Amino acid sequence: MGTVDRGVWPPLLAVREGPFSAVVLLAKGLKLLGGLLDSRLYSRRPRPSGRFAVSCATWRSRRTSCWRRSISSRARCTRTSGEPACVAPGTRTEFVSLCNLAGDRNGVSLMSAEIAGRFDGRVAFVTGGASGLGRAAAERFAHEGARVVVADINRGRAEAIAVSLPEAVAVEVDTSDASAVDHAFEAALEAFGQIDVVFNNAGIVGPQLPLHETTERAWREVMAVDADGAFHVLRSGIKAMLGRRGGAIVNTASSSGLAGKPNITPYSFAKAGLVGLTRAAAIEYAERGIRVNAIAPTAVMTELVADHIARAPDPDAMRRLLETQTPMPGMPTPEEIAAVVAFLASDDACWITGHTLPIDGGFHAR
Ligand SMILES: NC(=O)c1ccc[n+]([C@@H]2O[C@H](COP(=O)([O-])OP(=O)(O)OC[C@H]3O[C@@H](n4cnc5c(N)ncnc54)[C@H](O)[C@@H]3O)[C@@H](O)[C@H]2O)c1
Repeated sequence: MGTVDRGVWPPLLAVREGPFSAVVLLAKGLKLLGGLLDSRLYSRRPRPSGRFAVSCATWRSRRTSCWRRSISSRARCTRTSGEPACVAPGTRTEFVSLCNLAGDRNGVSLMSAEIAGRFDGRVAFVTGGASGLGRAAAERFAHEGARVVVADINRGRAEAIAVSLPEAVAVEVDTSDASAVDHAFEAALEAFGQIDVVFNNAGIVGPQLPLHETTERAWREVMAVDADGAFHVLRSGIKAMLGRRGGAIVNTASSSGLAGKPNITPYSFAKAGLVGLTRAAAIEYAERGIRVNAIAPTAVMTELVADHIARAPDPDAMRRLLETQTPMPGMPTPEEIAAVVAFLASDDACWITGHTLPIDGGFHAR
């Protein structure tokens, strides 16, 4: 039934040789037959929900292409032997594409599911979730239907965020401690049974010092969180996802990892390393359905940046610098960064892996 290629009808019907020509009669007959097949085909399939109908507004006229897209997305998902390569984490059916164009999810249109919440049925684990970018991302994931694990070194604030979300738990963790990270993931799995998204985001800037004055201690302090911590979370997140056959990880790098900035050498080093770690992990786990990407934001006014400004030798000059360094004036908000994180973590980005996406108002275009 699914092999009928209704795409042949339109060219044939387009032939215009007069009302009584044999071609037109043949075409009309075929159209009738096609219509009968079509109605049989669609009568067996669930009708699109109201939301689907809105997003696929001309559904009746476009139904052929909608159906074809669902066939091709299934084909892509099942092309590898064994486990489907492209299984949406947290969904109930086997052959659901991560590319949720218009396939079915147990009879529910994926397009309607996407509109209802891109993270419905999914669990997002957010480190540094108690403040700034992590907090905004936790709220965004929750808003789009996810159950959220707010993981942070600051327990009180993590709990406060968690209780403000519809379905969330707080987990206290110092990401620089490998076994604490393992325990945090265990606690998350105990709470929700699965992890589909990891926002590997906890980080610090460290002291502002010229390279030749950077102490061993300052270097280690930044590495412990921004390099070791990011590695620990990535490793535990991947382990948790391997059991689920897929997921999406977004690492928080920085524009300071893509371009040199003065007096934050350890930070730049760690964030540049995270760009490489993102690529390596993406390649290693692509076949197992785990996508790994990173964001590289420019300065965003969070506590981290407010503190960075306050500790600068000339805070006003530092503020001015951060506000004027990008071709687009001003700074992005944490919510604007969270929207990009949600995109990369969602099925909308199903063919994106291994990339570090600058969110920089054109900074790196110069
Ligand atoms: N704000 C920016 O301009 C900017 C730009 C580029 C990249 N980043 C990166 O974004 C990430 C988040 O920064 P932010 O601006 O939201 O900062 P923030 O200070 O507002 O939030 C960071 C959160 O991480 C937590 N945290 C710190 N160390 C931790 C640890 N060892 N274990 C667990 N949690 C820990 C803090 O308690 C805090 O809740 C960082 O990795 C930072 O380097 C920030």
